[in-house]
This record gives sequence, C-alpha cells and structure tokens, in this order.
Amino acid sequence: MQGKKVSQTSVIMVQPMTPQDANHSGNVHGGVIMKLIDMAGAIVAQRHTRTNIVTASVDRIDFLHPVYIGDVLSLKASLNLVGRTSMEVGVRVESENPLTGEIRHTASAFLTYVALDKSGKPMEVPPLILKTDEEKRRNEDAHARREARLRGRKKG
Ligand SMILES: CC(C)(COP(=O)(O)OP(=O)(O)OC[C@H]1O[C@@H](n2cnc3c(N)ncnc32)[C@H](O)[C@@H]1OP(=O)(O)O)[C@@H](O)C(=O)NCCC(=O)NCCS
Repeated sequence: MQGKKVSQTSVIMVQPMTPQDANHSGNVHGGVIMKLIDMAGAIVAQRHTRTNIVTASVDRIDFLHPVYIGDVLSLKASLNLVGRTSMEVGVRVESENPLTGEIRHTASAFLTYVALDKSGKPMEVPPLILKTDEEKRRNEDAHARREARLRGRKKG
C-alpha cells in the first residue's frame, strides 16, 4: 500500500462563533468546540484512508480559555501516527478576537480513528511518511500515548 505524507492530509478549519454556539453564560459551549475538533480530525483520517472511518477514542481535552461569541476558531489537525487499522490525529484549537487580532491557544486534543471496510470491519491503513523533525517528534510522542491508551483500554 502506498504511503501518504502528513502534509497531504493536514487540515486548517476556520469557523466563526455565532450566537447559536452559546451556552447559558453567553460564551461558546464546550461541546460545540468538541464537535469541531472531531470533525477536523475525521477529515484528516479520511483523507489518509479514503474509506469510512469511526472515532474510537478522544484523549483528555482541557479548555485553557473561554471562547466568546464573535471569536474566530481555527482548528489545525494533522496525522501523528498510524497503527495497523487506527490513526492518531492531533488537533490544536486557537481562538482569534477579530477586532484586536489576539490569538489564544484554546485547547488541544488527540483522537484515534479506525478505518472500516465495506462490511464495517477494521481495515489496514496506508503507511505514514514522516518528513520534518516536528512530524518525527509528534510521531514519537504519539507512540507513547498509544501504548498508554491501549494499556487502559477496556473491551466491551
Ligand atoms: C473502534 C472499533 C471499530 C474498534 O473495533 P474492535 O473490534 O475493538 O477492533 P480491534 O480490537 O481490531 O481494534 C482495531 C484498532 O482500533 C484500535 N482501538 C480500538 N479501540 C480503541 C480505543 N478505545 N482507543 C484507541 N484505539 C482503539 C486498536 O488499537 C486497533 O488499532 P491498530 O489496528 O492500529 O492496532 C469499534 O469499537 C467501534 O466500532 N466502536 C464504535 C465507534 C463509533 O461508533 N464511533 C462514533 C461515536 S458514536
């Protein structure tokens, strides 16, 4: 199977936050941001496989700052690691105040997606080609996370 480079599948998704994204305090609902994180990650995984994929797990997400209605969210997502049938995608979320230009790191998350064949069974994914030092560092870090994740995994 032919490999793919990280740069071939990376995504930057930009989304303005509107009143329908608000929680009861008038700031952006954390769940809205979580959904966008999963959407950005899924685009990356599906670009890598060009098959159906499912979200298998989402690692811990910390919200570092509130996001306000009117802010512009940027989600930068890229593939860190592939296993046999699974992929870890890292997503970094930044919020921009459109009036001042101030950009804040809002959250980061690591998600695992699994590629599925036509009968819904996990299928092998293409190899990942690492080019830059940063991609190689992220891949090493992702290996450690994968080990920890699999140790803690409970089969239902
Ligand atoms: C994810 C899913 C396909 C895994 O199925 P499974 O029968 O456990 O498959 P396997 O044990 O063969 O594991 C397949 C791969 O998934 C990985 N995986 C499975 N569960 C995982 C988890 N909770 N976290 C991280 N990776 C996981 C395995 O490590 C394996 O990766 P590898 O092939 O790269 O080594 C299955 O649990 C599923 O369909 N879950 C529902 C997903 C879904 O509907 N998501 C949307 C949320 S509503």
